[in-house]
Amino acid sequence: MSMEIDLKVPPLSSLASRRSAKWSDQEPGVLAMTVAEMDFPIAPPVTAALRAAVDRHDLGYPPSAPVAMQEAFASFARRRMVWEVDPEQVTLIPDVVVGVIELCETLMAAGDTVALATPAYPPFFSVLPAAGLRVRELATDERGDFELDDLEGALREGAKALILVNPHNPSGRVIPREQLTRIAELCAEREAWVLADEIHAPLILPGATHTPWLEVSDAAREFGIVLISASKAFNLAGLKAAQLVTASARAREAVATLPPISGASGLLGVIAAEAAFGEGDAWLDAVLDRLTANRELLGARLASELPGISFVPPEGTYLAWLDCRALDLDDDPAAHFLSRGRVALSPGPNYGSAGAGFARLNFATSPELLEEGLRRIAASVQRR
Ligand SMILES: Cc1ncc(COP(=O)(O)O)c(C=O)c1O
Repeated sequence: MSMEIDLKVPPLSSLASRRSAKWSDQEPGVLAMTVAEMDFPIAPPVTAALRAAVDRHDLGYPPSAPVAMQEAFASFARRRMVWEVDPEQVTLIPDVVVGVIELCETLMAAGDTVALATPAYPPFFSVLPAAGLRVRELATDERGDFELDDLEGALREGAKALILVNPHNPSGRVIPREQLTRIAELCAEREAWVLADEIHAPLILPGATHTPWLEVSDAAREFGIVLISASKAFNLAGLKAAQLVTASARAREAVATLPPISGASGLLGVIAAEAAFGEGDAWLDAVLDRLTANRELLGARLASELPGISFVPPEGTYLAWLDCRALDLDDDPAAHFLSRGRVALSPGPNYGSAGAGFARLNFATSPELLEEGLRRIAASVQRR
């Protein structure tokens, strides 16, 4: 079935004319493997829905009750994630980061502490302190797991919430169910909220099983709020529509006290999310096949051409956290790859102090461009 789907990535010269941050932030000729956007064509049901909206001149505010999107999400969750979602407990928000900020500001007080596994998605290091919160880092091992004892310590010291990114960015780790169960128990014992960022969860690769936070246990449902979106899996980040999901009265009441942020979402995002969740399965399957093949290719080429770079293959999403420490390129190997090889990766140090000597590579592209990126990295390593 996935054979019919066109995932042809245009040549670098065409990609470079895209206006998104991934491409427009780079100098001409640089191959961008940075921001979590994919190079594939958008899913046809999504482009059709967006074109129809433009043809209807339908570019106003989003509806106050986006019922069709809520239902499409619930049906996607049931079909693809083994997750029973009550559509009425799905709340439209502009994006995941805004959702995290608003939840933190509403559920916590200035000076409170939030626990976060690091290395971490870089904006968390700035937006949480900007919301008046302290960040208690939970160090992760090379696979991307943090110690439950460390979480217990953070909670004992008074952390009021855990931001749980699963699959984890940048490691791609998918946290096993037993670990999630224990995390839920520890947080519930201390009445700490779990803000479960599952934005990458529709992108689980073969070999891993993702358990949605709200399917873990009663404790997880009681103190858990999930943040999810079609934006990563369907490449729609600029359209500004994400979802908060709850499955308990306590969490639902907490979400009801948020300021009215739904209206800051984009109508095109709502329309696109509805089409993606409702009709995007065949395209998403093809993307998962492509990402699985690229993950293999990446592992093989690193082993043969760049043995100084090691990585643990990600279990979900399309990001590879490359350990470049053996190359001795200082803390920011991505700066070297860019200046000497004209290939842009995300600098490891942006992901926290544990990112020194690392770089993050986005492999959601064609095999040809992935190989070209690795050739450029290898050439930059020769030229020093
Ligand atoms: C773990 C994680 N959370 C949140 C985001 C940002 O999501 P949004 O654009 O919905 O704010 C990203 C983007 O890559 C991410 O990787």
